[in-house]
Amino acid sequence: MLGHHVAVCVWRLLCDQLPAAPADPAAGDAVAELYDAYSALLLYSGSCSPQTYATVIRARMKARHPAFSGTWARDYEQVSELLGRFRPFAGERVKRALKTNRLVHMTVAKRLVPQGKSLLRESGMDPTRTVDTDRDRFDEFFGVDRAEVCRHEFADQLADRVRLVLDDLAERPDPVRYDNADVARLQDALPDLLDRLVSFTTRKVTP
Ligand code: HEM
Repeated sequence: MLGHHVAVCVWRLLCDQLPAAPADPAAGDAVAELYDAYSALLLYSGSCSPQTYATVIRARMKARHPAFSGTWARDYEQVSELLGRFRPFAGERVKRALKTNRLVHMTVAKRLVPQGKSLLRESGMDPTRTVDTDRDRFDEFFGVDRAEVCRHEFADQLADRVRLVLDDLAERPDPVRYDNADVARLQDALPDLLDRLVSFTTRKVTP
């Protein structure tokens, strides 16, 4: 839950930086770093055992809806759309971060769901037809309340959750080890990436 909350904040920050990224190399670098933060958060969110994932997390998602899916995350939908526009201009650093993000997602998916199918694919529903009730279901499941907040409020809410993740990691280090060097590097980088996240809330954004 906590990992998803911080990921939602990272997606919001990506939506701030992506429109400026084609013309502004600093925004492009921010996109690469924010994607790395999202990748590291995928590893944190997916750090439970496959058994806990199957019997507690996936079971609760399936009970909420048999096709429950990450594609229902409205903030990530926006990220995907903005990324589509930015992609032709993306430099090597961003391309590497995107490639690693796909690798991390699939590594987590393979570890937690070894037979390999998402609930959405298992349900046979059309993965391209997301409607507002799906998006609302995602928000409700993960306890996301939407309201207009000022930048300071957003930064405070992010900082509180970053603190909770850092405390959790200090008390209970992630026991999972990955063979792939890129995946292991991001797992180790999570505390540093989190420490830097709040600084993105004060960066210049395109109106
Ligand atoms: C651990 C935290 C996870 C987060 C935060 C997360 C997030 C997301 C998001 C935002 C999407 C939509 C965009 C995209 O395609 O990247 C997505 C799609 C997807 N995820 Fe995950 N995911 C997680 C875990 C998993 C796991 C354990 C599986 C294993 C089956 C999985 C399998 C998939 C698949 C196959 C898709 C493509 C669409 C679909 O078939 O539902 N993910 N996920």
